[in-house]
Amino acid sequence: MIRRNIQLNEQGQLRHFLTIEGLKRQMLVDILDTAESLSGVTDQSVKKVPLLRGKTIVNLFFEASTRTRTTFELAAKRLSADVLNLNIAASATKKGETLLDTLHNLQAMHCDMFVVRHADSGAAHFIANHVAPHISVVNAGDGSHAHPTQAMLDMFTIRRIKGDFYPLKVAIVGDILHSRVARSQIHALTTLGVTEVRVIGPKTLMPKDVEALGVHVYHDLDEGLKDLDVIIMLRLQNERMQGESLPSEHEYFQLYGLTQERLDKAKPDAIVMHPGPINRGVEIESSVADGPRSVILQQVTHGIAVRMAVMSTCLGSHAEGGV
Ligand code: CP
Repeated sequence: MIRRNIQLNEQGQLRHFLTIEGLKRQMLVDILDTAESLSGVTDQSVKKVPLLRGKTIVNLFFEASTRTRTTFELAAKRLSADVLNLNIAASATKKGETLLDTLHNLQAMHCDMFVVRHADSGAAHFIANHVAPHISVVNAGDGSHAHPTQAMLDMFTIRRIKGDFYPLKVAIVGDILHSRVARSQIHALTTLGVTEVRVIGPKTLMPKDVEALGVHVYHDLDEGLKDLDVIIMLRLQNERMQGESLPSEHEYFQLYGLTQERLDKAKPDAIVMHPGPINRGVEIESSVADGPRSVILQQVTHGIAVRMAVMSTCLGSHAEGGV
């Protein structure tokens, strides 16, 4: 028996958005195209369209966030949805209520979508397996597993600036081992068909068998930067490290920090990306982060349109699929 992808409804449409792994190229292209068509809403004098009028979206952030939480909220509001931001620190989970009981109570309020960030890998899948059929779940980052909307906004940014994915050589640099962003980006880049994906970082921060994901591994940054079109920098995710041996931040910067001098080893029109939060002087020099080849703040802007696209696609699958 073939197991159905939990993210898809009976008609094969996207109901939940939990991971990019296993999604077809055309589904990713459709999300990017929808985001392109919705990106103009932000430039209108009235920044709203009625696509999700009458829907209720709950942001459940069990872990800190600046960009993801706020752009999900803005995206939902621009789609005319009602938005609840559950303050976890002040919620009944602090009185011992289980995650499932919290969810069942929110379900009883006739909510339509949960946007979930959690420190545990698999949390969004767990929730998706336990919600009522009319509810969609979007993964806003789970442990070191996946951050699919971040990867999609990164793909949107790359496509906007570079056009076709096919000829591109892209590198992800830094703490690959603990990065949910890197994992989702690798799945997105390989599915969308770039020429080459490289991962660059110290051996201690490289997952075992990462080559099986279709990437080339480099431990020397200067070597890995050659001929690149896109450089994606990552921060050291200290909160997910469990005694991995690491050099000091100063030493790390000497070996893996992106400086202007190093950037010159990539193609002259290479762009510099970072999902944020950036740690200046640890993985990236300020002059590069703020320089003309940095598209870091464009990534943040694109997060709104891409999250509008993901939410309207998932909730649209209920209307069309009759789930
Ligand atoms: N990129 C990202 O997930 O940032 P936040 O942690 O601020 O949401």
